[in-house]
Amino acid sequence: MKRIAIYPGSFDPVTYGHLDIIERGLVLFDQIIVAILYNPTKQYLFNVEERQIFLQNSLQNFPQVEVEAYNGLLVDYAEKKGASAILRGMRAVSDFEYEFQMALMNRKLNREIQTVFLMTGLRWIFTSSSIIKQAACFGGDVSDMVPPLVNEKLRERYSALGRDKISVT
Ligand code: PNS
Repeated sequence: MKRIAIYPGSFDPVTYGHLDIIERGLVLFDQIIVAILYNPTKQYLFNVEERQIFLQNSLQNFPQVEVEAYNGLLVDYAEKKGASAILRGMRAVSDFEYEFQMALMNRKLNREIQTVFLMTGLRWIFTSSSIIKQAACFGGDVSDMVPPLVNEKLRERYSALGRDKISVT
């Protein structure tokens, strides 16, 4: 039986930290579906279509990885796709409470789907989409933390928006 995992997130935008989790997740799963879902606590810099293009562009050498967007409950989507697991990356201890809460809620909503955590690679331990956006917004060089297309679009977006319109959630 094919082992399918959903790798859900906001991906606003995708970083090398996300790509590292996906690559390592492929050791455990036959197929990974990267799902761009809605997190109501966040304000997004890039729209869903843009985020999907960034992911697709970064993952074109991985035929076992699909990228989709879904507007609804993660566990419903996982069930619909025949996935047995939700894959998430864990960075420092600061991620733990949020991830724990989400994993337990998802388990309460659907006991058939397991959440699997991979520790983020040491190189990416301090990176997050939010901190990268904050650096990029003030002109910081983030080119070694995000794929080239994302780097280009961050520069474009922030020079068009101006620093006062910044959103880094
Ligand atoms: O990258 P993020 O923002 O930390 O990812 C969070 C995300 C999008 C995975 C989460 O908010 C989510 O699953 N949203 C869809 C709605 C849902 O099913 N929430 C979990 C149960 S409360």
